[in-house]
Formats: sequence, structure tokens, C-alpha cells
Amino acid sequence: MSTTAPIGEDKIVAKVTSKHVPIYVMGKRYDVPDSLTIMKAMEYAGYKFIRGCGCRGGICGACGTVYKKPDDYKIHVGLACQTVVQEGMHLTQIPFYPATRTVFDYEQTPAVAEAVFKAYPELFRCVACNACTKICPMDVPVMDYVAAIKRGDFEKATELSFDCIQCGLCASRCMAEMAQYHIAQMVRRIYGGKIKPKATHLAVMVDNVKAGKFKDGLEQLKKADVATLKQLYMSKDAREIEPNMSEDEWVPTNNAYL
Ligand code: FES
Repeated sequence: MSTTAPIGEDKIVAKVTSKHVPIYVMGKRYDVPDSLTIMKAMEYAGYKFIRGCGCRGGICGACGTVYKKPDDYKIHVGLACQTVVQEGMHLTQIPFYPATRTVFDYEQTPAVAEAVFKAYPELFRCVACNACTKICPMDVPVMDYVAAIKRGDFEKATELSFDCIQCGLCASRCMAEMAQYHIAQMVRRIYGGKIKPKATHLAVMVDNVKAGKFKDGLEQLKKADVATLKQLYMSKDAREIEPNMSEDEWVPTNNAYL
């Protein structure tokens, strides 16, 4: 298959070539272009996603997929929206994995490790097999953040688990039958809300919002027509963007809204 992407009259900015390859979705063969992601290939084959598809951008964790390649005994995982199909792959999606999530009263929960231990005592069944880390499609060091939680190091656990997208694949491999991603989420909530120092500049901005500092500016934007909005969006003067690699002290020339 060959596609072109004309812009305007006759400019061609990209040319993609691909061939059809067989893939097996839940055991059934489909021939799909080898340039597609698993998600697009499944749609090409006729599947319609009402589950197992969210952001399509590798962020929401809804499209966890398990697959095996020919002549390879290993089970691989990936996000269907990010992983390109490979010839002969057998795959199935795991959009949801049943896992324990303890409901806790955030206000009443003290910011101590024992609160997490009480909510998730299965933490201590971890045998450090590292299967969770190996399966993570985001390369999150799951076993390491579990170890940090067991040590009561909320800061480290928050830092290590920050890229988690809650796909649940770690839980699917855990021989201790714990839901690592739910435990880490509880830790991040407690750390962010009760332990980490408050951001004073954020508090100032919230006060500014409440005091109506941005009201007039927003009203003007809401009343503007499309042409004006486009002009404002494109104009360097109207929309000053922080340069890449700018110094920490960088501030925009127009600091009326700071
Ligand atoms: S659809 Fe959101 S991560 Fe794939």
C-alpha cells in the first residue's frame, strides 16, 4: 500500500509504503498493513473499540496488549496504540485486569507507611521476582518502587512510579497477587497532598484566579471571532512562548498575568 499526503495544490510532504502481513487477533488471522499500530490494524480488520481504547497517545493505559512473535518463546507486552504490528504476531488485548483496590478515606488517613501497609498488606508477599518491571510497557521500575514503599520511602516511590499509566499489566504477572499500580497511586496521593511542601507560587496563582485577575482577559477571548483568535495564536507578540532550555529566571515580556 502506498499513501501520499498532499497539502494545498500539489505538494507532497510524505510518502508511506507498506505491505500486508498476517497477524492473529485472539487466534483469528487478519492481513493488515505492516505500518499500522496494533490498534489501527485491529480497526483495519473490522474491530470497533468500545473498551480498550482511550487516548490513543500512550498515556491512559487502556490498551495493554500481550503478544507472542513467531519463533520466540517470550510473551511480550505493549500498548496497542503505540506498538507497530509484526508479521505473524499472535495478540490479545487486556484492557482491564481485575485487581484489588482498597478504598481509603483520604482526609482521615495519616501520612505514614503503616497506613499503606494496612490498606495493602499483600505488599509483604513480594518476593522480588521483578516480573512486574519486565512486563511494564512504560519501563517503570515497579519492583523498585514496591521496595521503596516497603521501606516507607514515599518520595522515592512517587518518583519511581510517576510514569505509571495504570494499565494493570504488572498485576497480571504478580505471583504475590498484588495490584502494584493501585498501591503506588495511594502513595502518590498521600505524598503529593500531605507530605510534599506546598507550592507557594501555585497558591498565589489560585488567589489571583479567585480575585478575578484573569476575568477580563478571558472575557475578551470568549468574545473574539475565529480570525482574531487565529491571529492571536500565531502572533509572536501576543503569544510569547518560553524558549526551549531557557534559564530558570525566564519571564515573558508581557507579565501582566503573572
Ligand atoms: S489508548 Fe491510551 S494508552 Fe493506548
